[in-house]
Amino acid sequence: MPKVTIDDITIEVPEGTTILQAARMIGGDVVPPAMCYYSKLKTSGGYCRTCIVKVEQGSAKDPRPMPKPVASCRTTVMDGMVVRNKTSQEVLEARAGVVEFLLINHPLDCPICDQAGECHLQDLGYEHGKVETRYEFDRREFEKIDIGDKIQLHMTRCILCYRCVKVADQLTDGRVHGVINRGDVAEISTYIQNSIENDFSGNVIDVCPVGALTDKTFRFKSRVWYTKPVDAHCNCDKCSGKVRLWYKGEEVLRVTARKDKYGEVEDWICNDCRFNKKKTSDWVIEGPSKVDRHSVISANHYDNLKVLKATVDRQQLALPHGEKVGLGKGALDPNNIHGKH
Ligand code: SF4
Ligand code: FES
Repeated sequence: MPKVTIDDITIEVPEGTTILQAARMIGGDVVPPAMCYYSKLKTSGGYCRTCIVKVEQGSAKDPRPMPKPVASCRTTVMDGMVVRNKTSQEVLEARAGVVEFLLINHPLDCPICDQAGECHLQDLGYEHGKVETRYEFDRREFEKIDIGDKIQLHMTRCILCYRCVKVADQLTDGRVHGVINRGDVAEISTYIQNSIENDFSGNVIDVCPVGALTDKTFRFKSRVWYTKPVDAHCNCDKCSGKVRLWYKGEEVLRVTARKDKYGEVEDWICNDCRFNKKKTSDWVIEGPSKVDRHSVISANHYDNLKVLKATVDRQQLALPHGEKVGLGKGALDPNNIHGKH
């Protein structure tokens, strides 16, 4: 089995593992962010380049470094490979450039966007973005489109990660939407303004990393951080029936699939569970959800701080004579850390 070292932590992984998967096996803050890769969707990844890392040594056999940052979700680990993510200033700067590109057309309408608080681009912008934009041209503009009676598309917010397209391809029957056109005129669209209507179409909302695809039944009802997530299940003959209910007071404002710490859906759910069961009596309540996402919705959950410290400790151990690891400017500044959690 090949061995790879990421940010000074060495791990042995099965043949064919990508750098991103290996980093997730290590866990903690050595894991690069991923806006388009989705472990549950085949052929995802390779579109956004937020997961770029520096390969300092290609392999034990050929120790030459790779000449430029590579997409970790698409690069397979080789035995003896040495990778840098958080510990490379070059990577952090390159990633800031990627964020700048992603934000060229993305509107900063977070104060009115339903995805705020759970948006991966918001987190990425916060962690890697610059304060000002250098872009001087007109941004792309689109009208909002209703894709059926439950989903709304804000194309201005889309970062063309292709996740919703993969969901439509791999999870639903009779796909009617995809990316039309290419380059700077590419857009998510349905074929001649069709609505997306099938039992699993609501999952496109959950996989969208930004607020481009939103749940019309939840729109403008509450900021997500004012809601209380609770895990619940039901006996559903179409899907797993394992959901997360988002309460405000006694009212269930929305139903979503449960997500893991990388923001990925654990089990897909059907539209019936998502849109039609909004009463507590429809569900067997399991208890409060453990949200360990690295984002605003995990506010006041301090577990992540322990993970960060554990990673740093392991990095220190990996280095000879107590040599210090450079985590990037300001990475361990207590103000930054507290701000993130
Ligand atoms: S609508 Fe959302 S999920 Fe679909 S490509 Fe755009 S950003 Fe990705
Ligand atoms: S997550 Fe790797 S390119 Fe998007």
